[in-house]
Amino acid sequence: MTSRTAKKKPARKATAAKKTSKKKAVKLRAKSPESNHKSQLYASLVVQLLSLLKGEHDFIANAANFSALLFNALPNVNWAGFYFLQGEELVLGPFQGNPACVRIPLGQGVCGVAAQQLETIIVPNVHEFPGHIACDVASNSEIVVPLFDGARLLGVLDLDSPLIGRFDDQDAEGLNELATVFVAHEGRLE
Ligand code: SME
Repeated sequence: MTSRTAKKKPARKATAAKKTSKKKAVKLRAKSPESNHKSQLYASLVVQLLSLLKGEHDFIANAANFSALLFNALPNVNWAGFYFLQGEELVLGPFQGNPACVRIPLGQGVCGVAAQQLETIIVPNVHEFPGHIACDVASNSEIVVPLFDGARLLGVLDLDSPLIGRFDDQDAEGLNELATVFVAHEGRLE
């Protein structure tokens, strides 16, 4: 079976992307130390996740440990966890952070829109996202990554940050890879 993630699609930005001049684009090609650091961090998280999952196939236990790994390893994150699809709504799964809303209808909030559109959504400023559901007043930016079992949507992985613009395409790529590792391990893809 093949896995489907939003990996190959560039993550949708919730606000219009600013045009980048050619001159600036050339300048941006060189990887910044920050960007190298981020890719190393995600590479190390893949190793850590595989080690946490090894030998354990309880889906809830593994989702709980996965959310704890993200919450503790990623800087400036105040909520990390799952919503799983049940019928036409998402229902809260294992997470780290403040208590959160339990049910999100498809198409509502950042999670519901990501689940409906089957794509990763990066929201640089949640206060500018129409219909954003505020679970923690400390949250200012958010990223939501859909989880797939083949073509079937399982739910979403959601991360919040108190920083504006905390998440970028590298986070989208890294989190999609981790999500794929997680779902594949649960034996739903193999
Ligand atoms: N902000 C989300 C709701 C979930 S919490 O962030 C944990 C949304 O708009 O869907």
